[in-house]
Amino acid sequence: MLSNYSASLSSVVLTIFAVLLLRGSEAQLSSTFYDRTCPNVSAIVTSVIKQAHQSDVRIYASLTRLFFHDCFVQGCDGSLFLDSTPTIQSEKSAPANNNSARGFPVVDNIKAAIENVCPGVVSCADILALASEASVDLSGGPSWSVLLGRRDSTTANLASAMNLPSPFDTLSKLRSKFSNVGLSDTDLVALSGAHTFGRAQCRFFNQRLYNFNNTGRPDPTLDTTYLATLQQSCPKNANLNGLNNLDPTTPNKFDKNYYSNVENKRGLLQSDQELLSSSDAASTTAPIVNSFASSKSTFFRAFATSMINMGNISPLTGSRGEIRSNCRKINGS
Ligand code: HEM
Ligand SMILES: *[C@@H]1O[C@H](CO)[C@@H](O)[C@H](O)[C@H]1NC(C)=O
Ligand SMILES: *[C@@H]1O[C@H](CO)[C@@H](O)[C@H](O)[C@H]1NC(C)=O
Ligand SMILES: *[C@@H]1O[C@H](CO)[C@@H](O)[C@H](O)[C@H]1NC(C)=O
Repeated sequence: MLSNYSASLSSVVLTIFAVLLLRGSEAQLSSTFYDRTCPNVSAIVTSVIKQAHQSDVRIYASLTRLFFHDCFVQGCDGSLFLDSTPTIQSEKSAPANNNSARGFPVVDNIKAAIENVCPGVVSCADILALASEASVDLSGGPSWSVLLGRRDSTTANLASAMNLPSPFDTLSKLRSKFSNVGLSDTDLVALSGAHTFGRAQCRFFNQRLYNFNNTGRPDPTLDTTYLATLQQSCPKNANLNGLNNLDPTTPNKFDKNYYSNVENKRGLLQSDQELLSSSDAASTTAPIVNSFASSKSTFFRAFATSMINMGNISPLTGSRGEIRSNCRKINGS
């Protein structure tokens, strides 16, 4: 009896140890991750992107978008950066990225500058997390303490990249794509606020201007003055790659104007306007749009929190993945 009891007690103790061990190898991200191994990493990132910004005012927006497209596809693991090889099908050819995702040469420059100082230490996934925070900050938006310690994938996932949120998705589709990666309605609305800067090509909203949802008419949730302006810039079936400001009021500034635009029926993409105008918005995302439109500090705090939430999507930590020496290829290839 006694020996039976102590045997089951020791198996309980063993189980507890095993669980602790497993937890230990599944390391958490941390803001101090490179404090000893690459203490200047964040200053280097900032310096390279400021340099790039001198000849490309759009770069802060472009880098911020890359973080979204990386994190939504098999987690924030730098998979977006891999170029095609005989064994890798690059995510860059997915519709959301092809002739659209930009900023890759700047990421290469950041990586090269960091490899010069601390070779083999900082992942491409973390570089992008730092670059997006610095981009938002430098554009007048909030700053936050970036969690670090992600490693880079040795695979890409084109199929998953084909399933990135689309500007033609309905609200319920957008909500389910966010919830599939553990993000809430508040995250959806806050992160969509990144459309306060950067550009969008006519092809991503052309049908709203002329033949919305095959009705032969413009999208009724589009302000008519704004509609006329957009029709000038994007004639029917022409200039499909033409660029338009996502936020016509303050195109390069990170502020809360995105939400007042949406309130004024001036969301550029269908996916923007859906957050307020969809028939199921009233009970889901519309109150969140209105609360961000009325308070900059509420939006800025929520955006920082949601960027951290998005940055936590299934990172590779511990000994999983690798630290790529070139963001475009897996080591040794
Ligand atoms: C909610 C679902 C989303 C959809 C459907 C969507 C869709 C788009 C589209 C179609 C463009 C224009 C791309 C082009 O014309 O080449 C764009 C641009 C942009 N998106 Fe989103 N987006 C979404 C969420 C996000 C999120 C979560 C972020 C970041 C937190 C983000 C940041 C940006 C930025 C900054 C730009 C401008 C990029 C540039 O100028 O290079 N978007 N988005
Ligand atoms: C950190 O990096 C910045 C930007 O490259 C540079 O100006 C600065 O001198 C560096 N500081 C140290 C201590 O290396
Ligand atoms: C990407 O865009 C290029 C140039 O427009 C086009 O030739 C190519 O077919 C596109 N790739 C895919 C996979 O759609
Ligand atoms: C588009 O049309 C379909 C079918 O007529 C309808 O079910 C859907 O709600 C429409 N979408 C929007 C955003 O109006």
